[in-house]
Amino acid sequence: MKVVHTIEDLRDQLRGQLRVSFVPTMGNLHPGHLSLMKLARQHGDPVVASIFVNRLQFGPNEDFDRYPRTLQNDIDKLERERDVYVLFAPDERELYPEPQNYRVQPPQELGDILEGECRPGFFGGVSTVVLKLFSCVQPRVAVFGKKDYQQLMVVRNMCRQFQLPVEILAHETVRDTDGLALSSRNMYLQPHERAAAPQLYATLQRLQMQCHAGCKDIARLEAEATEYLNGHGWKVDYIAVRRRRDLNKPTPEDVAAGELLVVLAAAKIGATRLIDNLEL
Ligand code: PAF
Repeated sequence: MKVVHTIEDLRDQLRGQLRVSFVPTMGNLHPGHLSLMKLARQHGDPVVASIFVNRLQFGPNEDFDRYPRTLQNDIDKLERERDVYVLFAPDERELYPEPQNYRVQPPQELGDILEGECRPGFFGGVSTVVLKLFSCVQPRVAVFGKKDYQQLMVVRNMCRQFQLPVEILAHETVRDTDGLALSSRNMYLQPHERAAAPQLYATLQRLQMQCHAGCKDIARLEAEATEYLNGHGWKVDYIAVRRRRDLNKPTPEDVAAGELLVVLAAAKIGATRLIDNLEL
């Protein structure tokens, strides 16, 4: 695997390649990331991964400074897996040599709800860096995890609206054996928080079962799930059942017509904020 830190070196490595498959990450790689690389490999060649902790997507009181930066460890993992041909690991000066005044602004109806409401500017920051990374790597295919469900939709819509020649592939959420979705932020959890963390997914599963059993009162399901977690030491930001196609609230007519739905959740346990979702 070649490790490059500059856009010039990246372009040298990729010259003439028309089937590049790309996985953008912020590093601290776990098996979830590695499975994105495997999917990338099935859909293109060569596979490029990036590691870049993107300041633009962190709010002023978020964890940008303490976000785990584990480059050598990440390189070792990628070397072992042998799926990635080039790792692009730019520093801030390389990707943001001047203040990033041109930004992508996702539409409010998708970018400012749920995660976007809790983390103002988050999806603008994500979209801007993803567009920039796409411009550097020029992939034909890029892989994103479904754990970041709203991010996946924002990126897909951005590609469609800007007519970018990139196909976005979604990978299912990878979970630990107890159901906890793998995330770089799981490493912040204290042992007792880690033990309680699977409650988030279990709550979504319970809500899914109630839907399958015929319950159509979505507001009640959301309220019960929120109450359960808040009563077990969590601080819920949202548990929201939404239409899969646009993340809007489903109307009773949507529910009656069998509209495809997803439940999305964000909640804090201790100081750690986790997100998860489940298609219903
Ligand atoms: O999902 C992530 O790790 C980040 O949001 C991404 C897509 C790499 C952009 O910084």
